[in-house]
Amino acid sequence: MHLTTFLPLLTLLTPSLALTTRSPIDPVPSPWNVTHYTEGCSPAACVYTFNISLSNSGTNEPSFSTTCTGNNLTPDFQACEDPAIATREVNGWSNVTLIVQHVYMDGEARFTVTGNHTIVNPGYQAYDFVVVQSEISAVA
Ligand SMILES: *[C@@H]1O[C@H](CO)[C@@H](O)[C@H](O)[C@H]1NC(C)=O
Ligand SMILES: *[C@@H]1O[C@H](CO)[C@@H](O)[C@H](O)[C@H]1NC(C)=O
Ligand SMILES: *[C@@H]1O[C@H](CO)[C@@H](O)[C@H](O)[C@H]1NC(C)=O
Ligand SMILES: *[C@@H]1O[C@H](CO)[C@@H](O)[C@H](O)[C@H]1NC(C)=O
Repeated sequence: MHLTTFLPLLTLLTPSLALTTRSPIDPVPSPWNVTHYTEGCSPAACVYTFNISLSNSGTNEPSFSTTCTGNNLTPDFQACEDPAIATREVNGWSNVTLIVQHVYMDGEARFTVTGNHTIVNPGYQAYDFVVVQSEISAVA
């Protein structure tokens, strides 16, 4: 059986409940911690790299720490060194939006958590920021 639901993050409970239950008191996970985000562009593409980690989410989302690299031409998610994490970028006007995805199993359920952060005038200067998880889906 495959069930897919898209829930606002506040509705996340345990895997067995996530598909059916909505509660305003569910814990909100700590955001992902991005350090040393840089982007460099050539005529071919812009390539970005950064470190990203989660040390203690406060939820069932497992901790991780990895290095990600991607480019702004590839529409698909590009795996980080830890392939549970993947990223892609959407070009704006004088900005880019970095989209981060974390896939993990909890019991029988496969969770996909997504968040994004818009960087204005990206460049070689290193940025640190957090990415707030904004959407979650569970497949049981
Ligand atoms: C992000 O990581 C840095 C370096 O480890 C740490 O100082 C900072 O407190 C972390 N921020 C968050 C929001 O976890
Ligand atoms: C990213 O993390 C790796 C592994 O911990 C570390 O060796 C590297 O210096 C970090 N890079 C930056 C730019 O912080
Ligand atoms: C990023 O650029 C888009 C246009 O491509 C604009 O609509 C959006 O407001 C910009 N976001 C920020 C945070 O500057
Ligand atoms: C970024 O996340 C917000 C929710 O916080 C969502 O509305 C928006 O569509 C996302 N942007 C992209 C480019 O995925």
